Amino acid sequence: MVKPTVPISFDSFNFSVEEIEGYLGGIPDDPAFQKPLSPKTYTMKDGEQLVIRSAEKSEAPAILKSLKPLIDGKYDKDFYHLVGVRTYAEVLAWQQNRLKDAYVIVATKKDGELVGLVDHRFWDRNVAVSLHTLVLKRAERVGVLLYVSKMEHAFDVVGVNEWWATFESPFGFRLGFRFNHVTKAWPEMQHELGGARIFYINRQQWEQYVKPFAKERNWLGSRPVDKGTLAKAKPLKPTSSIEIEF
Ligand SMILES: CC(C)(COP(=O)(O)OP(=O)(O)OC[C@H]1O[C@@H](n2cnc3c(N)ncnc32)[C@H](O)[C@@H]1OP(=O)(O)O)[C@@H](O)C(=O)NCCC(=O)NCCS
Repeated sequence: MVKPTVPISFDSFNFSVEEIEGYLGGIPDDPAFQKPLSPKTYTMKDGEQLVIRSAEKSEAPAILKSLKPLIDGKYDKDFYHLVGVRTYAEVLAWQQNRLKDAYVIVATKKDGELVGLVDHRFWDRNVAVSLHTLVLKRAERVGVLLYVSKMEHAFDVVGVNEWWATFESPFGFRLGFRFNHVTKAWPEMQHELGGARIFYINRQQWEQYVKPFAKERNWLGSRPVDKGTLAKAKPLKPTSSIEIEF
């Protein structure tokens, strides 16, 4: 305790939790970073069509319910346990305004059941930070489609100049390798997910190589999505079965 050098009229002040919240959350999220990604569809091997769209904070409980089983040592394979825990924490923090300027994209079955998700956030108007990519149904390239969708949101919809990723698993690394990500100097620059290398691409690489490469392979998905299909894919439903073993 430090006594002020001059008399102060009152011994204490009361602060409301609403005033404190302004400090905890920083300034409100920038609407420029919430510009919507237009929904798209992607057809899996058996002909089933998935909808890829942005998620609302009100849908966080369905995502959390889907990820919760992964918070268990029995999923310590291919880094599902770790990425499941971290993605769970990010989605909860997003819902409770403890993750700044984040954007969540989901892939769902036609009835809205969650198949995979990605999240990223905006450092500022120049840099988008990739957080996680996680699929609950494998060997369908749903992870590829979702990862491309978040780069598309950052570069084409919001208009950043750089995309900063890092990878916690070999399958994650493969996404970055596939899309020509190179590293920033380390340890001078470290990714916010835990201090490892930043793997990045800039706008020129996105426009001249990564996006055309994805387009050639039909990894951008199909647009538009008709209103009926989109309406049926909402609200988001929790995943009924985790299909991640090859
Ligand atoms: C990373 C991730 C999102 C990638 O999702 P995805 O692109 O849909 O890919 P899958 O995990 O289904 O892996 C498919 C790959 O497995 C390999 N594979 C599949 N079947 C195989 C087989 N029978 N034999 C050998 N390899 C096989 C192939 O390399 C295949 O890639 P391809 O689609 O180009 O052929 C997903 O693996 C995931 O959610 N992992 C856990 C979380 C994680 O690690 N996230 C990244 C954090 S940085």
